[in-house]
Amino acid sequence: MTKPTSLTQQPAWQALERHYDQLKDKQLRELFADDAGRGEKLTAEGAGLFLDYSKNRVTDETLRLLLQLAEQTGVAAKRDAMFAGEKINVTEGRAVLHTALRVPKGGTVMVDGVNVVPEVHAVLDKMAAFADQVRAGTWLGYTGKPIKNIVNIGIGGSDLGPVMAYEGLKFYSQRNLTVRFVSNVDGTDLVEKTHGFDPAETLFIVSSKTFTTQETMANATSARAWLLGTLKDDSAVARHFVAVSTNAEAVSKFGIDTTNMFGFWDWVGGRYSMDSAIGLSLMIAVGPAHFQELLAGFHEMDEHFRTAPADKNLPMLLALLGVWYDDFFDAQTVAILPYDQYLSHFSAYLQQLDMESNGKHVTLEGDLVDYQTGPVIWGQPGTNGQHAFYQLIHQGTKLIPCDFIGFIQTLNPLTPHHDLLMANVFAQTEALAFGKTRQEVEADGVEAEQVAHRVFEGNRPTNTILADKLTPRILGSLIALYEHKVFVQGAIWNINSFDQWGVELGKVLASKIVPELQAGAEPDLQHDSSTNALIRRYRAGRRA
Ligand code: F6P
Repeated sequence: MTKPTSLTQQPAWQALERHYDQLKDKQLRELFADDAGRGEKLTAEGAGLFLDYSKNRVTDETLRLLLQLAEQTGVAAKRDAMFAGEKINVTEGRAVLHTALRVPKGGTVMVDGVNVVPEVHAVLDKMAAFADQVRAGTWLGYTGKPIKNIVNIGIGGSDLGPVMAYEGLKFYSQRNLTVRFVSNVDGTDLVEKTHGFDPAETLFIVSSKTFTTQETMANATSARAWLLGTLKDDSAVARHFVAVSTNAEAVSKFGIDTTNMFGFWDWVGGRYSMDSAIGLSLMIAVGPAHFQELLAGFHEMDEHFRTAPADKNLPMLLALLGVWYDDFFDAQTVAILPYDQYLSHFSAYLQQLDMESNGKHVTLEGDLVDYQTGPVIWGQPGTNGQHAFYQLIHQGTKLIPCDFIGFIQTLNPLTPHHDLLMANVFAQTEALAFGKTRQEVEADGVEAEQVAHRVFEGNRPTNTILADKLTPRILGSLIALYEHKVFVQGAIWNINSFDQWGVELGKVLASKIVPELQAGAEPDLQHDSSTNALIRRYRAGRRA
């Protein structure tokens, strides 16, 4: 295989480096003054989402060069290879086909000579039949009581997507069902999330692609003990446990009847799996029709990403702007700021999606990169963040590009809340972009010694993403927007966005330490002096 030209040797990259030197001090104030139409020009729309990217530190030339970079790094061909089911996850030898999970019935996506779309819909139909029974109260527990409580047990991609979307779509959920999510191996999570539940009315969904993940297996085992502590008959497990996994053998070994297993495939990465059977808890909560709408939104964004011209392509634009800040301005983080309480888990979800995908230090060929890859993703829903960390974004020493996400209509029209909320979206991006100059502060009559403290430099970049209303369809589209943004960035950085070897070392070391913590006799510790001492301190303290 011939090695691609190193990213930093690409003509567009080098032109961007020169361009950065010219543009780095240019103010958004000037860019807006130079072009009265900028606020309407630097916008794009697709799949129900409107993106205003005018408050970014870019000119037409920046955009031209960034688009050239995408071309020179072959983003479109890489995208097409993903959609076509090529094994682009090279370190695991797998196709990357979460997009196949939302292809409508009758579509075709071939993997190893097999059209996977009928299989995808067979699982969706099985999920829908099960969800309908639980929702209707006809799926009965062991004692004959209907299910009232659903507990999803999973971690990472088997938790973050479902919990984010459950919170995101709570408005559409069936309110006589209580849905909770247990992920942490800390026993407190399971204890608190089952608190007050009657085992006879509780259904556990054990969600794990591999069905070997330590945290999930420990929680599932303790959940079974909790159930049997009351119901006292192993056969109760079949009515109170279902599994979502690719590993039928391990599911059956755990004691869950594989007729109550919902499968998926190795070509669905964990962090891209919420629209597979991993979304079963969500489907039960919001119903199959809303789940289908969510998938339709994902698919609409997939089609937009696949077909829209690069300069109007939302994931492409978001990704390129991200590369601009990450690699040229040396920005280390991106803040995700949804102005909707229902999206309270959205930035946590994007943390895994982005950081597990693009937190990589070698290229696809295994060479060390000589440029920055994925940023730190963080954020809180507005307006809470404004009273916590926005100070640093406005006046600190770090450049923090932000995505503001808002909705034109609220699902809970409690006058005047929505206008207050959205006024803050517009005010924040305005303040970040244009700041407040020394002259403006002085003109307010501020005392001389306070002036410097009250100056806002501005020139802080933001994207504003607006949609009409938070519907299942829009949520699907929004998630797919970020999935594909992450894809484009990984394609430009020439890294594998679809493996996660970085989580392995800690897992392996932990499994070695567990028996050392549990040993009766003092174990022969062979770690470094810090780890040895910490283990000894823990063992001594635990016995006390
Ligand atoms: O964090 C590592 C990881 O492998 C994620 O990629 C995945 O989402 C998570 O663990 C859970 O894995 P599983 O679904 O196999 O339990």
